[in-house]
Amino acid sequence: MSRTHLCVLGATGFTGKRVAYELASQISTLHAENKGFTWSIAGRRASALEEVLAQIMKIVGAADGKDSDNTEKGLLPRIISGVDVTDVGSLVKMASQTTLVLNCVGPFAELGENVVKAVLDASEATGQVTHYADVTGETYFIERMVRLYRDRAAKLGCTIIHAAGVDSIPTDIGVLYAKMQLGADVVPAGIEMGFTLQSEGRMTFNFATYASAVAGFASRKELSANRKQLFSALPRATPLAVEKGLSTGAVKPKKSLGGLVQYHDGFHSHVMPFFFTDPAVVRMSQSLMLEAEVKDFQPISFVGYFTLPSLLAQLVVIVFLTLFAGLCDFAFGRALLLRYPSFFSGGLFSKQGPTQEQIDQTSFTVTLIARGHSKALLAGAAPGSKIGPDVTATIKVRGPEPGYVATPIVFVAAARSILKNGEAVNRGVLTPAAALHRTDIIKVLNEDGRVTMKKVA
Ligand SMILES: NC(=O)c1ccc[n+]([C@@H]2O[C@H](COP(=O)([O-])OP(=O)(O)OC[C@H]3O[C@@H](n4cnc5c(N)ncnc54)[C@H](OP(=O)(O)O)[C@@H]3O)[C@@H](O)[C@H]2O)c1
Repeated sequence: MSRTHLCVLGATGFTGKRVAYELASQISTLHAENKGFTWSIAGRRASALEEVLAQIMKIVGAADGKDSDNTEKGLLPRIISGVDVTDVGSLVKMASQTTLVLNCVGPFAELGENVVKAVLDASEATGQVTHYADVTGETYFIERMVRLYRDRAAKLGCTIIHAAGVDSIPTDIGVLYAKMQLGADVVPAGIEMGFTLQSEGRMTFNFATYASAVAGFASRKELSANRKQLFSALPRATPLAVEKGLSTGAVKPKKSLGGLVQYHDGFHSHVMPFFFTDPAVVRMSQSLMLEAEVKDFQPISFVGYFTLPSLLAQLVVIVFLTLFAGLCDFAFGRALLLRYPSFFSGGLFSKQGPTQEQIDQTSFTVTLIARGHSKALLAGAAPGSKIGPDVTATIKVRGPEPGYVATPIVFVAAARSILKNGEAVNRGVLTPAAALHRTDIIKVLNEDGRVTMKKVA
């Protein structure tokens, strides 16, 4: 059987089916970019995959899913059923039949490693490289995969990209874009990120993301041990401004109530530290790009925040988070959290997932405030003089509902970049920026127009 260009694994899930539909909606572009494009959808259950195929048929305007011509011509995906991530044989077989696995099966700390291994095993066994990307937002999983498999992946010529959904393409690729906007005569010093969720109604996310968050909070100890090991083997990214004892210009939030309540003048908003994976991914990108000796690469200091609409919203989040983090430390607490997701998240997560109306009403903005020293200023700055940056650029990455609308859009943009950019895509176990910084992913996103990066000041 011939290899397909890509395969969506977990295509029956809340996210996976939307990734498959997004691919279907871009089928002409995929054909234009890849000669003889073909694709597949994979999962455990044939009947559920057939249902996804039926919806894809409507999107691409194909009358018959059983017409093998439609599959051979790459209009419709081939179905690969019986693929269970606990069955390594089924995974290797699937990975051997495609050039790129798009993994939507989570929680990843529990279910992801076998898929990464299978992609590497399949590449070794067939002598034909299979690449991989996923939508994980789980820091421990990402850092562990980088530590365990990056040498093997690089040797085999495989690209494994984690966090290629809204965690963390808007921020990680946005950082590349923000640095570019400072201009060639500026040495970047620091970037502050503010993540804002907007909704005209009530926001809800699907249970699997909540389960991933519970697993993430519960694995804090393992995360820290793994991180120590990983970063002892990776170069540390220190901005030139910090090396020279200059200021990065980062705004310190004003704190009250013992530091619990914070207000940031740059974002004109209450903020709290960004506890999802973006800051860890940006840090990893920097170390990986330093390790790869990327030409003209300039590290930055990075700090991320959630922006909150009011003091009251901040206080409510603090109460829920404190309870959530406390319960995550105990098996009984985790069982409680997983049993009553809606109650313990104030309605933010549910086993039913969001309604279409809730999805339609939600959007996000990532604001990146980048600062740097002009080369002229740097030349005259005495070491330790604490001189602040003289150039600032503010970038906004805007998109629709992050989990199930923007994630498929940015994930498919990453997939397109992997398939069409050949050797410009770096090899190894990587973050989006470390893998794709030489590709046209920013152009792809901006031309598509649904998740955009723009300089606003
Ligand atoms: N990074 C982001 O921005 C972002 C956005 C959205 C989602 N996510 C992540 O994506 C993951 C999936 O979320 P979701 O809401 O789509 O979850 P979901 O609706 O529960 O879907 C899970 C998918 O995984 C499959 N699966 C589960 N166990 C499997 C196994 N042993 N073997 C093969 N397939 C298996 C399921 O197949 P069945 O249908 O057979 O059960 C289903 O297709 C989560 O980790 C979530 O955090 C990330």
